[in-house]
Amino acid sequence: MNTSNHVRLVEVGARDGLQNEKTLLPAAVKIALIDRLSGTGLSTIEATSFVSPKWVPQLADAAEVFRGIRKVPGVSYPVLVPNAQGYTRAREVGASEIAIFTAASEAFNRKNINASIDESITRFAPVIEQARADGVKVRGYVSTVLGCPYQGEVPTSDVVRVAKRLHALGCYEISLGDTIGVGTPAKARAMLHAVAREVPMSALAVHFHDTYGQALANILACLEEGVRVVDSAVSGTGGCPYAKGATGNVASEDVVYMLHGMGMTTGIDLDLLIASGAWLSAQLHKDTASRVTRAHLAH
Ligand code: HMG
Ligand code: MG
Repeated sequence: MNTSNHVRLVEVGARDGLQNEKTLLPAAVKIALIDRLSGTGLSTIEATSFVSPKWVPQLADAAEVFRGIRKVPGVSYPVLVPNAQGYTRAREVGASEIAIFTAASEAFNRKNINASIDESITRFAPVIEQARADGVKVRGYVSTVLGCPYQGEVPTSDVVRVAKRLHALGCYEISLGDTIGVGTPAKARAMLHAVAREVPMSALAVHFHDTYGQALANILACLEEGVRVVDSAVSGTGGCPYAKGATGNVASEDVVYMLHGMGMTTGIDLDLLIASGAWLSAQLHKDTASRVTRAHLAH
């Protein structure tokens, strides 16, 4: 049982958040966002995505953004990579941590990266191998762990199988993604419990979208189960363009507020995070999805 009081947040707003926003932000705004976030105490900030710009035009400026951000010592800036071409692009700008991604559902994987689960893993194996040779850290995502927009129910055994394979291939951490935010606490906890029998809990993270308003409850259930790494997006932006109806990730501000309220530590300055979230929603000309930021601004 993990009794540590410290939780590491993986801030995914600049990638998962912005990949699905209608407003295309200029690279300079994305750079300013990431530089604000690195001043809040966050230690992992997913910066962008080297996927095909035809598939995700919002992040077509990945190279410019990655080059432009201030690299704060002690902060990691992973980038999403779908294949060898993405890896080459990421390395050209000096990325030292990548995230690869596949799913527990065949149907979703096909829509998202135009490959079966097996094909995607075959595609990633040489990328991971090269990353190891280059001293690049690799994180792995498993999507649709609690439901799929195309297939519906996703058997937990499929989540376990895919998570185990990514870990065996060399991913130092596996993020379990409820891509469409349909999970509820008991199911989330049972899924994590099952994966943790095959992959050490210290190598697992949870990644909840808040489509059905369950994300904080799911995170709490998973914290009780022992997870200590949580993905979230400042201001609760975004979603996956290839998961119809999926809303943004749980808002980082709300996660930090809950954790600090429980007496847990994150190393993050909540006021600075709230200011970053409010700034981002102004850039996007939309209301923040963070309840904490809304409450704070109402004072
Ligand atoms: P494809 O069409 O099968 O690929 O797409 P292809 O290899 O046949 O290439 C087609 C064209 O794309 C070619 O260009 C390639 O050069 C180019 P053309 O000859 O037509 O001019 N291309 C690239 N260009 C730049 N960078 C690259 C790259 N690769 C190919 N890396 C592919 C396959 C994987 C590329 C595509 O499906 C793709 O990019 N998908 C990404 C979709 C995506 O980003 N989804 C969101 C992220 S996942 C997510 O949000 C879930 C997560 O948050 C966890 C959760 O919530 O569950 C992680
Ligand atoms: Mg996501």
